[in-house]
Amino acid sequence: MEKSEFVLRAKPPPAADPLAEAPSLSALAEQEAGCTRCPLYKNATQVVPGEGPPRARVLLIGEQPGDQEDVSGRPFVGPSGKLLDIALERAGVDRDRCFVTNAVKHFKFEPRGKRRLHKKPDAGEIDACRWWLDRERALLRPGLIVALGATAIRGALGRSEAVSRLRGDIIELDDGAQFLATVHPSSLLRLKDESDKREAWRGFLADLRKISRWIEKDARAN
Ligand code: URA
Repeated sequence: MEKSEFVLRAKPPPAADPLAEAPSLSALAEQEAGCTRCPLYKNATQVVPGEGPPRARVLLIGEQPGDQEDVSGRPFVGPSGKLLDIALERAGVDRDRCFVTNAVKHFKFEPRGKRRLHKKPDAGEIDACRWWLDRERALLRPGLIVALGATAIRGALGRSEAVSRLRGDIIELDDGAQFLATVHPSSLLRLKDESDKREAWRGFLADLRKISRWIEKDARAN
């Protein structure tokens, strides 16, 4: 099947009216602070809610907070975040006009001596945290949802899809929002070979430029 013919059937958002439960993103963040929906809250320092303007048209979804995000309480402030900031700037996307969040809102790690090593969240943890992501979506009603990596794809769609299958095409979701998947910036940080790094960087920028083109089109239409 052509990718463009592929119709995404994301699980519908929760039936309960999220706006009644948390009337604003700041109220939602306060509720998130008390989250015990999965065991990750037990070892994390704090929840890391999404941040950005409540009227942001673009929702950027990462995987989960890392070590620095766990300490600061803010998403994408560590090495992946710094790379993301550079890439967004090069692609002409103003991060401050996007709402930036994670599929999983507590840091999952394995202690190794004094270090805390990142551990990938599992499907159960992603699905439990979807409760919050869905509510962020309901409050924001973004026009474009960008998933950075496979965990974000599962959080956004409610099912697993390979990044390579969806990457780079803007597709429409059942709720009318547009959806773009790309790689997680940490995948670039892990590359060792210089030419692999250059190629991955070019591909990442090409995907992010689709966001800036979408924003321009959206601004003209609204
Ligand atoms: N990686 C993510 O996916 N999110 C963050 O907030 C930081 C690193």
